[in-house]
Amino acid sequence: MKHTKVKDLLNSTTTLQEVNAKGWVRTFRNNQFIALNDGSTINNIQCVVDFENTPEETLKRITTGAAVSVIGTLVESKGAGQKYEIQVQKLEILGDSDAEKFPMQPKKHSLEFLRENAHLRVRTNAFGAIMRVRSVLSFAVHKYFQEKGFVYVNTPIITGSDAEGAGEMFKVTALPFDNTPRTEDGKVNYKEDFFGKETNLTVSGQLEGETFAMALGQIYTFGPTFRAENSNTSRHLAEFWMIEPEVAFNDLDDNMDLAEDFIQYVIKYALDNCGDDLKFLEGRLLEEEKSKPQADRSEMPLLEKLNFVLENNFKRVSYTEAIDILRESTPNKKKKFNYIINEWGADLQSEHERFLVEKHFKCPVILYDYPANIKAFYMRLNDNTEPGRETVRAMDILFPGIGEIVGGSEREERYDVLIEKMKALEIDEEELSWYLDTRRFGSATHAGFGLGFERLVLFVTGMTNIRDVIPFPRTPGNAEF
Ligand code: 4AD
Ligand code: MG
Repeated sequence: MKHTKVKDLLNSTTTLQEVNAKGWVRTFRNNQFIALNDGSTINNIQCVVDFENTPEETLKRITTGAAVSVIGTLVESKGAGQKYEIQVQKLEILGDSDAEKFPMQPKKHSLEFLRENAHLRVRTNAFGAIMRVRSVLSFAVHKYFQEKGFVYVNTPIITGSDAEGAGEMFKVTALPFDNTPRTEDGKVNYKEDFFGKETNLTVSGQLEGETFAMALGQIYTFGPTFRAENSNTSRHLAEFWMIEPEVAFNDLDDNMDLAEDFIQYVIKYALDNCGDDLKFLEGRLLEEEKSKPQADRSEMPLLEKLNFVLENNFKRVSYTEAIDILRESTPNKKKKFNYIINEWGADLQSEHERFLVEKHFKCPVILYDYPANIKAFYMRLNDNTEPGRETVRAMDILFPGIGEIVGGSEREERYDVLIEKMKALEIDEEELSWYLDTRRFGSATHAGFGLGFERLVLFVTGMTNIRDVIPFPRTPGNAEF
């Protein structure tokens, strides 16, 4: 007999003579009621055991965490909260779970404790919901771009280039640590390494993505990226997933339109397809925030916040306007910011970004036209900027509670300007010769951005720590599992 998913049983339109359900016991009450969950939905199905005709030995083995298979009749439930339940005729214990040792007890666990048990936390309501929402969101990402005719590109994970020029890369090497081959001047001799050169885990697929955009028109990547930045924050991972669309002939305005439309689409898709999970997560957040002071609580419940993002345009603000707002802001004047904004040209810290989004504009914000010297080399220099106040066609999208969720730009398509910039930043032209070919042969305006997938999942699920929205987080000092 084939078993039926709990979700389908709960959605059944009729009672059924004989059904088989398999899953894990969440709770067992009164020696009679099993709350069974199989991961297909946040909802459990109640299985009513005929305890008088079930051996004591078997009843004892129905413990939280045990895997069981039940065969019985799907009948209308008399209990509150569920339409159907299973009157069990046959019960088989597939895998025992020692109730005293199983870490996921049917009670509230701290998120820290659950992180240490990341292989089991997915058996809780909250993490089941988060991981289903994550899966639906990644499907929505592909659906959005595929329906628009974008080509999905798998850019390399091991690269020889530092796309962001930030130098926060994990080295990839097959060289031994003792007896490392050295050149005459004592440096590591990468010529003897696996690839015959120095290589790293990618920080971004953008540069390779650009070469594909300059042939296929519209492309996107969706893959893992790695950053060895020692940022122990609730927004940073050492291994995270990034979505990077790149479009030929798009300028910065087109890029902003695409990013806004894309984000709204995937959020809507999650709202339409993860109703039960999001409702549960909304309740979880409300509960969590009860212990916080009023000022630290979310202004809107989760679903209202998601709908707000769908229904309102993102506010587009230039860096220069943002600096003026920040300079005049109360926390700046009262020296409440850790970094006081005095001058045009200052890099924005997350405290400033969050002030703009959460306190000033109270909606998602797209900041654009940043000072050239705080942004990456490939961003297009604006025409007619004042000398000493050069800006580039960069954009960052800032979200409430998250800060930066997207970073992108129109690209510098002019060969001469790009080369000059690389020289100034001492970026190896030889190493990026292949990238420069896009500007040598048939160069054209193009633009793209990167969206940090986990930051999107954070926003949609209402979670507050990025370690809780990826199955097995990698952060400084932690690579368990
Ligand atoms: O702003 P970033 O560094 O931009 C790029 O990598 C560009 N090459 C993207 C492009 O134009 N194609 O990173 C893009 C996004 C950030 O806005 C943030 O959402 C996310 O990636 N991100 C991280 N997410 C989690 N952990 C980290 N350590 C992250 N670093 C960046
Ligand atoms: Mg950025």
